[in-house]
Amino acid sequence: MVYSRSDVSPRLHEAFGQQFLIGAAVNPKTLVTQRELLTHHFNSITAENEMKFESLHPAEDRYTFTDADRLMAFAKANGMAVRGHTLVWHNQTPNWVFEDRSGGVVDREALLTRMKSHIETVVSRYKGNIYAWDVVNEAVSDRGGELLRPSKWLDIAGENFIAKAFEYAHAADPGALLFYNDYNESVPEKREKIFALVKSLKEKDVPIHGIGLQAHWNLEHPSVDDIRQAIERYVGLGMKLHITELDVSVFQHDDRRTDLEAPTEEMLARQAERYSQFFQLFKVYSESITSVTFWGAADDYTWLDNFPVRGRKNWPFLFDREHNPKPSYWNVMDIARS
Ligand code: GLA
Repeated sequence: MVYSRSDVSPRLHEAFGQQFLIGAAVNPKTLVTQRELLTHHFNSITAENEMKFESLHPAEDRYTFTDADRLMAFAKANGMAVRGHTLVWHNQTPNWVFEDRSGGVVDREALLTRMKSHIETVVSRYKGNIYAWDVVNEAVSDRGGELLRPSKWLDIAGENFIAKAFEYAHAADPGALLFYNDYNESVPEKREKIFALVKSLKEKDVPIHGIGLQAHWNLEHPSVDDIRQAIERYVGLGMKLHITELDVSVFQHDDRRTDLEAPTEEMLARQAERYSQFFQLFKVYSESITSVTFWGAADDYTWLDNFPVRGRKNWPFLFDREHNPKPSYWNVMDIARS
C-alpha cells in the first residue's frame, strides 16, 4: 500500500464546489490503484477507453459492458457524476461498422442505422446516470483549408453524420447534455473551425448543448490569451463548456529528450504557474464552465508516458507518482480560495 498524503489534503472538488465539477479519466486499473485519491478529490469520472465504440461494441451483434458497468458502479457507490466518452469518433471504432457483409464499403443508410442503434443502446443503458456525453469527438481538421477531418464517417455518411449523432443521442436521453469535443481547441485557426461547425449545428436546431475543450496543454502552449479567446468565442455561441481532458505536459511539442527520471524544479514551478493561470480563467468563466476533467489523476499513470516520444515518462497532473500533492495542487487550491 502506497502511503498517500492526498487523503489528508483539502478536497479539490469541495474547493470548487460552487464553480464546477472536478473530474478524472479512469480505467479498470486506476479505479483500483488510485481509488483513495479519486474518491477524496474528484466528484466526476470519465472512462478513458471503456465507453468507446471498440470497447462497447466489438462486433455488430455483441456488446461488452462489463468494464463500463463497473465504472458506473464505482461512481454510484462514491456519489460521483459520470461524463460519457465518446459515441462517434474516427479512432477506436471497429472496422465492421464501415463494412458490408461481403467486406465492401457499407452504404450511407446502413451506416447511419448502425450509428443509431449503437447510440440508442449505449445512451439508453446509462440514461439518467450519465449527465453529459461527448457525442462527436475530433471531427474538425487540423489542416488549413479543410473544415472536417477526412474519416470513414464523413466519406460514407457525409457531413450530416455529426447532426445525426446528436439527434440520436438526444432521442435516447433527452435529459443528457450533449457535447462536441476536440483538441487544439485554443489554436486560433482550429478554434474558428470548431466555432463554424457548432454555429452551423445550432442554426439547424441540432440538439447540442456544449463544447468540450480537451485541454491537452503544456508548459508554454497554448498561451493564456489564446485560451481566453477560445472560451469567449465558444461562450458567445451560448454553449456550456466542459474542460474534458486536461493535462499539462512538462515537454514542449518538439522536445524529444528521454533522459529525465523526474521533473526538474523549473518544470514543476512552471507547471504550477500554468495550472494557476488556467484555474483562474476557469473561475472567471465558471458560469459557462461547469466541469473540469483531468485526463488521469496522478503522475503514476498518464497516456503521455511513451507518447509521442517512446521511452519517456511525463508528469502532467496535480499529484505525483505517490499521489502526494505537487506545487500545482497547492497553487490550484490558492485560486479556489481567492
Ligand atoms: C483523445 C481522445 C481521448 C484519448 C486521448 C489520448 O484526446 O479524445 O479519448 O484517446 O486522445 O489518451
